[in-house]
Amino acid sequence: MHYNSSGQCPVGADLSTFQERLRAVDNPRRMIESLPVSLAEKTLVLRSLAETEALAARLARLAVAGDVLALAGGLGAGKTAFARGFIRARAGADGVAEVPSPTFTLVQVYELPGAPVWHFDLYRLARPDDAWELGIEDAFAEAISLVEWPDRLGALLPEARLDLELTIGDGEARQAKLAGRGSWAARLDALHV
Ligand SMILES: Nc1ncnc2c1ncn2[C@@H]1O[C@H](COP(=O)(O)OP(=O)(O)OP(=O)(O)O)[C@@H](O)[C@H]1O
Ligand SMILES: [Mg+2]
Repeated sequence: MHYNSSGQCPVGADLSTFQERLRAVDNPRRMIESLPVSLAEKTLVLRSLAETEALAARLARLAVAGDVLALAGGLGAGKTAFARGFIRARAGADGVAEVPSPTFTLVQVYELPGAPVWHFDLYRLARPDDAWELGIEDAFAEAISLVEWPDRLGALLPEARLDLELTIGDGEARQAKLAGRGSWAARLDALHV
């Protein structure tokens, strides 16, 4: 990077540096993909299970096929409760009979209007690569994926995603930290919560 005498980086220098880097790599597409994805963040307090379900329903309305929602937080934080609210909202009037926690099956698939929803609980996943056998490739490409314990995926977790981290507060209160990455950044920005 070239700096002028006042120590500021002129816009032109930025652009030419970028162009230099673009010429320098053999695969420009890979370089563009390596640029940081856009990011929006919000923190809110959910005072009850009903408020968690209401947030889940609002996000459910914004979700489209190919989306990944990474649901983080400790045991009992409310990840499954959020997923249940999300899936019930996507099901609409048709409803879903049951939304069990996929603790032992690791994944439950719901054929719902608009897009299927795959609900993962990866707590018991031994290695990230074991997730291929669960069908993550199909899920990430064609479905909406709700992923509890997303850290278990390591580098297989897509960069463009919505992160939700729940922390237990007093009684039913939960702190919810949202981070929208990639196309979720604009959607989260537009969400008034
Ligand atoms: N504001 C709230 N949001 C979500 N759950 C709440 C809230 N208040 C109370 N709860 C209760 O907390 C519990 C959350 O359990 P849940 O199974 O959703 O946790 P989890 O994060 O999925 O845990 P695990 O890591 O074991 O899968 C439920 O019993 C739910 O009724
Ligand atoms: Mg759970």
